[in-house]
Amino acid sequence: MTPHDRWLLRTDTTTYAVTLGGDGRWAELAAWGPHGVEDGPSPMDWSRRTHFIIPADAAPAEYIPYGLRPFTGADLIASHPGGDRGSWWRFTGATQVEDRALRLEFADDVLGLRTTLCYETVPGTDVVLRWTELTCTGETEVRLERFDSAAVNVPVQGGSRLTYLAGQWSQEFQLKHLELERGRFEMESTQGSAGHAYHPWLAVQDAAAPAEGATPTYGIALEWSGNWRITADAEPGGAVRVRAGRVPHEGAVRLAPGATLVTPRLACAFSPDGLDGLARVWHRYERHLTGERIDRPRKVLYNSWEATGFDVDAAGQLELAKTAAELGAELFVVDDGWFTGRPDDTGGLGDWDPDPAEFPGGFDRFVEDVRALGMDFGLWVEPEGISPRSKLYAEHPEWVYRIEGRPATLVRNQLLLDLGREDVQEFVIGTLDRLLGDHAISYLKWDMNRPPTERGRPGHPAGPDPELQDLDAAHVAGYLRVLDHLRTAHPHVTVEGCAGGGARVEHATIARTDVVWPSDNTAPMDRLRIQHGYLHAHAPHTMSSWVTDAPGVFDPRPRSLAFRFVNSIAGVLGIGADIRHWTPQQRAEATEWIARYKEIRAIVHHGEVSLLGSPADPTCGIQYEEPGGAHLVVTAWNTGPLDGAPLVPGRAARLRLRGLRPDAVYTDTAAGTRYSGAYLLHSGLPFAWTAAHDAELTVLARQ
Ligand code: GLA
Repeated sequence: MTPHDRWLLRTDTTTYAVTLGGDGRWAELAAWGPHGVEDGPSPMDWSRRTHFIIPADAAPAEYIPYGLRPFTGADLIASHPGGDRGSWWRFTGATQVEDRALRLEFADDVLGLRTTLCYETVPGTDVVLRWTELTCTGETEVRLERFDSAAVNVPVQGGSRLTYLAGQWSQEFQLKHLELERGRFEMESTQGSAGHAYHPWLAVQDAAAPAEGATPTYGIALEWSGNWRITADAEPGGAVRVRAGRVPHEGAVRLAPGATLVTPRLACAFSPDGLDGLARVWHRYERHLTGERIDRPRKVLYNSWEATGFDVDAAGQLELAKTAAELGAELFVVDDGWFTGRPDDTGGLGDWDPDPAEFPGGFDRFVEDVRALGMDFGLWVEPEGISPRSKLYAEHPEWVYRIEGRPATLVRNQLLLDLGREDVQEFVIGTLDRLLGDHAISYLKWDMNRPPTERGRPGHPAGPDPELQDLDAAHVAGYLRVLDHLRTAHPHVTVEGCAGGGARVEHATIARTDVVWPSDNTAPMDRLRIQHGYLHAHAPHTMSSWVTDAPGVFDPRPRSLAFRFVNSIAGVLGIGADIRHWTPQQRAEATEWIARYKEIRAIVHHGEVSLLGSPADPTCGIQYEEPGGAHLVVTAWNTGPLDGAPLVPGRAARLRLRGLRPDAVYTDTAAGTRYSGAYLLHSGLPFAWTAAHDAELTVLARQ
């Protein structure tokens, strides 16, 4: 290999090109964009002059250690324990499989560390996966203080606009924009999960370009269910360099001689079509992650949490179940409160037996009664949760995270099991196998309602040094092991991922669950905004969404039942309202919406999405185009302002559709109205909103 070698990776429509820099001491980005972008001098090329810094600080390096890059931010900080910080390495070889996979190796013989930069394209998508493998090749262990998955150089022009998703519990996935001319932007979670506050996802565009339309848009998303950090640096030369990776709970980890640490994968995506185009890249990628399970229709669920809370008993649940079945629900899920010692959130977690007092005829009899209504049955569990008053805690206090001699912090009155322990994993697998084996359960909602505090494991086999324990990675491995077990041992069971709402949404979870719960906030206007952010990063077939009673718990602004249904139909429809109190009219309307959803859900879950405007606009919507384009589904909402029609001569609100054939004819299958493609692209689909009519679901068939 000469320093002038260049490697190309090609996805469906993009090229990612890497070359060697610094006389072969590091790899750097040569091109990233649509096919052909590699033909010409690299946009990352620079003057090669550096004042007061060194070339490695200025280079668009793909991954570079502290040592070689001392001033502007390194991706790897490695040393011998107590030794000098830094690694100085050299390129030792590359392996490439066509234009689909690449491995670049670098060795530091003094430290005894081999670093392999790994690349893999994902078939049928515009995603390149990147990760790093670190092997201790010497006799002495290596201490890793920072070990990102990858650094991603984004060739922006004229500064950058970062788009990210931030929030808190009940306000997840708020879409935010930030112009970064100089300086550093950082997001992280140390909550042992993706977290509510920030989402491990970032989009980067030119600062001055419009966010939508023909704007080159780059994005990353980290596949990691534990602690993480994403850093974006606006570099003096004009580019943005994004670093992303996991963050060990203990601050650093040790790599024993002969051991290899594989970082989480970072998905890197490109679209020439703005944030909306980037969303489509992520949606396609998530359909790929879902694999063949994408073909299982997502059933209409009823979940009793908002109706009954902890007040679960067979009679009350059956009353709900009967009505749910009449409305057309296909699945009935009993949420929290079904097991012993759980009249409220102060007890019960860990003792996963149906409460005989609440199911006097026996739990199986109850499940059979639900199933006799023609619905599947599902249950809520929180496998990592443990109540201090539980029998499990009395038997195994050592299974809980704790630091000897320190008090334990309760969050939601509970503690957290150390799922990194094999015996805890066996307990959880045994519990789930027993529940799924003993009862006819075909749906599990896996919740997690507290982050780890006092995270220690006295008596850890690796010894008391926290750096040797890597508890965050152990927990993630345990969590993924159990999810993988569910897939292989109980393939018929649909799994919903949840963590106090949307704190555990990221690609490792999405790949192993069928749907995720984006937020506990189901109030119509709030939910619309949460889902708008969510759909920028994640696909509709993963987005669980319930129709609940208005006004919501958080958002008292009145919206129609139709608004709430259209909101939920935009993803995976569920009902969470107390339908016992619904009027016959409400029930009739709900029955109709559910029937319509069943007709079009395949288009929503398999189609290409265009996000039409945002909830900040008076009218916004989502267009779903069936593969092949024969049908379009458009969900549309009026967010408040009305134009006065029909009392004064106001005009209809309009949403311009995207990507249609101008010369084709599209017919509204309900109203019979015919539109040309040109009309829908140019004049837009009309919506005559009134105070009562604030949402619509339109299906258009192409002739
Ligand atoms: C969490 C979940 C909710 C519900 C409750 C039950 O908050 O996000 O959907 O399951 O727990 O306790």
